[in-house]
Amino acid sequence: MDDDIWSAWLRRGRDAGDAVTAARVAAATGRYAAKILDAAALRPGMALLDIGCGEGLMAWAALERCPDLQVVFTDISSPLLRQVEDEAQRRGVAGQCRFLQCGAEALAGVEDASADVVTSRSVLAYVADKAAAFREIFRVLKPGGRLSIAEPLFREDAQSLSAMRRELDAGGPPMLELLYRWKAAQYPEGEAAIAASPMTNYTERDLLSLAVQAGFAPVHLELHIDIDAVPPRRWDVFCATSPHPLAPPLREILAQRFTPEEAARLERFLRPRVEAGQEAGTSRMVYLSAQKPGAG
Ligand SMILES: C[S@@+](CC[C@H](N)C(=O)[O-])C[C@H]1O[C@@H](n2cnc3c(N)ncnc32)[C@H](O)[C@@H]1O
Repeated sequence: MDDDIWSAWLRRGRDAGDAVTAARVAAATGRYAAKILDAAALRPGMALLDIGCGEGLMAWAALERCPDLQVVFTDISSPLLRQVEDEAQRRGVAGQCRFLQCGAEALAGVEDASADVVTSRSVLAYVADKAAAFREIFRVLKPGGRLSIAEPLFREDAQSLSAMRRELDAGGPPMLELLYRWKAAQYPEGEAAIAASPMTNYTERDLLSLAVQAGFAPVHLELHIDIDAVPPRRWDVFCATSPHPLAPPLREILAQRFTPEEAARLERFLRPRVEAGQEAGTSRMVYLSAQKPGAG
């Protein structure tokens, strides 16, 4: 199967082929999809457009709720679009599906006022022009149609790097330097980089404002912040996975940016913690649902 960075991460980069990790990812993404669909108010026979469909998380969950939906899958990734098209054939639903290669900023090939519902999950985080994406979603929705999305907030992960930098500059411990270099390979570092990266240049309030500016009303937003105990993980799996599609895995960072001695020192520190599940992980997810004014 051919790959690009998006398909490589969805197919392997988030679970490294490990069944336990894959089950954990599936449980979490299933919960995100269910919450998005609850706010989408799907009804039988509706036309659903999913932006950045990936492996089809949203569409397959929606089709389970309403098997006769008309579904438009869109993504910039051709390997992923081929994958969902094959899967639609396998499921016997290809006749009610369309597959369009386009970015969220310009939904080329999607007619004005053609969708009852637009969904998207963890996609705008990678879109440079988010205002254009909201305008496009507004354009393709029918009057009364609904938008329901969920987006991660990575800004604070990036900002925590600056705090680490300050601690290092004030004479922080040598291990902090290695931890800092690991995280700095995965998130933008410093105010200018945070402001320039589509992944970190927005808050939940920005998403709310963009929806309002595009013309949506009413708009509802929920910010979910969860600090959870991370279960014990295998070291090889931990090293082979990464937190988002643009982040290299620790294995690659150790090989390319650390000396063998530094890599061994970081492993001695981190590995027992990873294998014992001693860390807490924070996730920040914005759920936004909105309506295009008009008859519904
Ligand atoms: C983290 S994955 C999420 C995939 C899927 N929505 C899910 O929830 O499993 C990000 C997806 O966004 C797509 N993507 C990245 N940039 C995009 C853009 N500018 N417009 C539309 N899709 C984009 C990628 O190809 C990938 O499928």
